[in-house]
Amino acid sequence: MAKIELMDFIGMKRSIESGMNRSAGFYSLFARLLGMGFIERSIHQCLVGRKAQKLEVLGPGDGLGLSDAIQNFEEVRLIDLSQKMLEKAREKLEHSDIEYVLGDEGDLSLGGLVFVPFVLNMYSEEGQSALLKRISGLMDQGQKLLILDFNPEQKSSPFQAYLWILYKGFRLITGIPVGKLNNYHLQAMRYFEVLEERNFAKACLSARLYRKVN
Ligand SMILES: C[S@@+](CC[C@H](N)C(=O)[O-])C[C@H]1O[C@@H](n2cnc3c(N)ncnc32)[C@H](O)[C@@H]1O
Repeated sequence: MAKIELMDFIGMKRSIESGMNRSAGFYSLFARLLGMGFIERSIHQCLVGRKAQKLEVLGPGDGLGLSDAIQNFEEVRLIDLSQKMLEKAREKLEHSDIEYVLGDEGDLSLGGLVFVPFVLNMYSEEGQSALLKRISGLMDQGQKLLILDFNPEQKSSPFQAYLWILYKGFRLITGIPVGKLNNYHLQAMRYFEVLEERNFAKACLSARLYRKVN
């Protein structure tokens, strides 16, 4: 990665960390106000019925949607940049083998299913590319990655209007400069092949299961 891009990527993560720490206390209220129940449901639906020895969640935030779904997995690791969000998750979640890691994609361990819920939408195109490259660099050939997020291919006007309001509100409360939804699917195809695709909430949310190939 060029030096300037790396600096941008690090700056982006710092801004996310401080913004999420600042808003952790009212994140779930914000989520409820903006009708984000469908996001919570999609996280749950995406994971239930899946089985793997280990689940690694990159960006669990305050644990939205994870309570029941993580029970399918023997071992759970939750990795987040924000200490405050992790504390909220810790208050909410129960599991016999759960580890909370204050860190980033560099803390992923080998094996297991890597789940990235509603994280990539926060990054610029370059940030998404850097993040996916780093994630793939820490995975074994054949290891699986599950990305759930707003669907960048959904162009309907109501959805675009909803996103506009959501991003405005999110910027206001967190100070994180989210601007537009970049197409992380295109970046993911550089390192992964698609195994499964599923949409939620009238295709406003998209889940893709990938396998590492490069
Ligand atoms: C928009 S929140 C979504 C949280 C939760 N998944 C949800 O859907 O409510 C994104 C979360 O990802 C975390 N995050 C962003 N980039 C990350 C990275 N590179 N490594 C670890 N956590 C990250 C943020 O701190 C934040 O808690």
